[in-house]
Amino acid sequence: MSIYLEKPGYKNTENVINIVVDECKKREIKQVVVASTKGTTGLLAAKALKGLSEKTVIVTHNYGFKEPDTLEMSPETRQEIESFGAKVFTGTMAFRNIGTAIREKTGYSEQDLIANTLRLFGQGMKVCVEIVLMAQDAGLIDSRDCIAIAGTAHGADTAVIIKPAPSNRLFDIKVREILVKPRDW
Ligand SMILES: Cc1cc2nc3c(=O)[nH]c(=O)nc-3n(C[C@H](O)[C@H](O)[C@H](O)COP(=O)(O)O)c2cc1C
Repeated sequence: MSIYLEKPGYKNTENVINIVVDECKKREIKQVVVASTKGTTGLLAAKALKGLSEKTVIVTHNYGFKEPDTLEMSPETRQEIESFGAKVFTGTMAFRNIGTAIREKTGYSEQDLIANTLRLFGQGMKVCVEIVLMAQDAGLIDSRDCIAIAGTAHGADTAVIIKPAPSNRLFDIKVREILVKPRDW
């Protein structure tokens, strides 16, 4: 059963993680991918999923995303997340990468069009698909169904069950079920 939240945003984070924990138990899903910029959501998810999910992957922004030579997640937070058995992945963002650079020069990129189409379902849906592509590209999840968790700028407000694929086979991705998402954003 899908749960629809009245408002988007970080206030939903604990609720979303609890929903995912319940679904992991019910369905025996063993892979969870989580978007986390500074690490707040990643840490909560890593703690809650310890011993439950075989592969918990916390995906960050790319290095230098906000400011040159920096990552929003501190090394201490990364270490703390990893102490709960999760992996933290920093790499090229699947829907940004050179598409953003091209859009900034020319005003248009196909990657942006795909990202904005997914945003019709909310920011979190775009991010869920993106982080699953990134985790598969890095070999951190296999092709079994996984749960992806993401939010609107901060925290988590969306969780979906996804059949993963790597970015070169984006259109093989299947968004099987929406566990929770905001109704408005
Ligand atoms: C790879 C990546 C892409 C993201 N893209 C967007 C986006 O397009 N729109 C948005 O509202 N939030 C986006 N986010 C934010 C996440 O959905 C999530 O809310 C945030 O990373 C949680 O970070 P926190 O744990 O530091 O609160 C993105 C995060 C990551 C890691």
